[in-house]
Amino acid sequence: MPEADILHEMELPESTAAILSGYQRDAVALIARYEAVSPADKYRAVADLIPRWQCNVVDIGAGSGVDAAWLAAKGHRVLAIEPVEPLRRAGERLHPSDRIEWLNDILPSLARARAKARQFDLVLLSAVWQHLRDDLHEEALSNISRMLKPSARVIISVRNGPGDPSRPTFAVSVERTIAIAALLGLHTIRHARAESLQQRNRDAGVSWDWLAMEFTGNPRGDR
Ligand SMILES: C[S@@+](CC[C@H](N)C(=O)[O-])C[C@H]1O[C@@H](n2cnc3c(N)ncnc32)[C@H](O)[C@@H]1O
Repeated sequence: MPEADILHEMELPESTAAILSGYQRDAVALIARYEAVSPADKYRAVADLIPRWQCNVVDIGAGSGVDAAWLAAKGHRVLAIEPVEPLRRAGERLHPSDRIEWLNDILPSLARARAKARQFDLVLLSAVWQHLRDDLHEEALSNISRMLKPSARVIISVRNGPGDPSRPTFAVSVERTIAIAALLGLHTIRHARAESLQQRNRDAGVSWDWLAMEFTGNPRGDR
């Protein structure tokens, strides 16, 4: 039986529903853009913090799966979470791999991913964080922290500057993200800045913050 469309099935914050509809509408053009970006170039600021041994990764907001495929080619097993159906289907088609599992799920709840009761060594949130309202960041990080093995790493990239009007973004306080994460046992081990790889984004004044965090156990114990 086909998986129900999560956009219609769950009660989403209005902002999230609008953002995901924008991705759904523009999926064809976006897939070509995502596939044209080299993950090795994109992750340069944090690449040395990606484990070299084969590990379990969850890529949240995986788009068309180009990063998931890059990690799978390195031998990692990847749970690619993507709520927008055309992006998810493109990922399955363009990057077939028995090391990649696709899941229709959504931040901040990650209810389906958490129901799998798996623990991960690495979490990627590439270009997703600015789509979540500030007041949803704590819930998102708390749910992510429940899915982590000891010493797991979380890598987050945050877009600064204007977003496309059809896929709204929110201003992110990186300092607040770092502070919330620390309360959940996620300690920031790198904060780097990078310019955008896409010329059209550079022209629009977009830049990126990269955060890498390491999990030392949730001090609240609410796993
Ligand atoms: C800018 S794209 C980045 C895609 C990919 N991570 C990359 O770096 O190429 C943002 C992605 O996040 C997804 N997304 C947006 N809001 C989300 C949410 N609340 N939960 C999960 N994914 C979300 C979108 O559907 C889209 O695939």
